Amino acid sequence: MYLVHTNMAAAFRAANRVLCPCTKSSSCSQVRVQIQWRGQSTAAAATQTKSTEPQTQPGKRKTKTGILMLNMGGPETLGDVHDFLLRLFLDKDLMTLPVQNKLAPFIAKRRTPKIQEQYSKIGGGSPIKKWTATQGEGMVKLLDEMSPHTAPHKYYIGFRYVHPLTEEAIEEMEKDGVERAIAFTQYPQYSCSTTGSSLNAVYRYYNKKGEKPKMKWSIIDRWPTHPLLIQCFADHIQKELDLFPPEKRKDVVILFSAHSLPMSVVNRGDPYPQEVGATVQRVMEKLNFSHPYRLVWQSKVGPMPWLGPQTDETIEGLCKRGKKNILLVPIAFTSDHIETLYELDIEYAQVLANECGVENIRRAESLNGNPLFSKALADLVYSHIQSNEICSKQLTLRCPLCVNPVCREAKSFFTNQQL
Ligand code: FES
Repeated sequence: MYLVHTNMAAAFRAANRVLCPCTKSSSCSQVRVQIQWRGQSTAAAATQTKSTEPQTQPGKRKTKTGILMLNMGGPETLGDVHDFLLRLFLDKDLMTLPVQNKLAPFIAKRRTPKIQEQYSKIGGGSPIKKWTATQGEGMVKLLDEMSPHTAPHKYYIGFRYVHPLTEEAIEEMEKDGVERAIAFTQYPQYSCSTTGSSLNAVYRYYNKKGEKPKMKWSIIDRWPTHPLLIQCFADHIQKELDLFPPEKRKDVVILFSAHSLPMSVVNRGDPYPQEVGATVQRVMEKLNFSHPYRLVWQSKVGPMPWLGPQTDETIEGLCKRGKKNILLVPIAFTSDHIETLYELDIEYAQVLANECGVENIRRAESLNGNPLFSKALADLVYSHIQSNEICSKQLTLRCPLCVNPVCREAKSFFTNQQL
């Protein structure tokens, strides 16, 4: 790896540096260039709105169905980076550190300048809130038409590490008098480090208050093979394949890239690798297996084993073996953020690709503002309401080697809801 990014990668990387000073520091090899790329205007636009403002779509009628869009979030401005990192390093559902309450502020402070530098190169902040709002608006508009008896629908954004925080969103939902609350993860594939952490936060909110929710809660906890999600990915891949020079198109190797996990997380029984694989399989079926492909994993950090093969090593390995036309597909992120805009677009598609002598490398666009993606989200919520289920059967099962008691309590909090 070359850089310290955000989200899980930042957490594991920075912690590793502090805990294992001998770990190879990769940031020294970073290329300090300012490059225009497709996400820059978006990210810049996202920084114009301060994150603590009230959420949108003030309803004329009292909100009947509130949809809480859960995600990690990302710093909207460079000034948000420190608090983002601090919350991330304090998250015991994501990682456990010795004396975490003391170590987390230390790591956050130490890493802030470096992370700010990364964000400055993608326009000064993460575009994730902007895209989530666009997707949420499209989703509730469709839902009001599809399901008038559960309308009005309102979306709420609940980020784990930046405003609007999950707890703030729940408070607003309770204040709005929402009847039915749907916790809707924005990660198609479930991991205890991402969706699990957000669900634990919902449980902790009520547990800390010592109150029962007034709203009836249910969860959309995973959706790795939803047909419209698959269609969106296939469309974006096809669009990008068509942009390769015609004489090279048939030689393209498709690399589906997802955020990696430490093997310690995988080996405790986290379902994420299998679910990412399921998405890839369906997308390739949709594309009629038109090209050779691999599922690869990005953002590994430190000396401990992580799920591989790594995206960067795969690009190098393919080039050495004469496969020099590559299409990168972010398969576990639906919106752009630093792992797509910086790691894939700059580190790999520009710097690394140049070093390895790649002929053509492109990256499939993230789903961002694709109206079909909002339709997918609306369809997921609609089907969920129709099903009258609290959550998937999968969510009721803890990782076989889970040692986090909050996972058990959170699962029981949700499964005991009465719809
Ligand atoms: S870590 Fe997976 S259920 Fe607790």
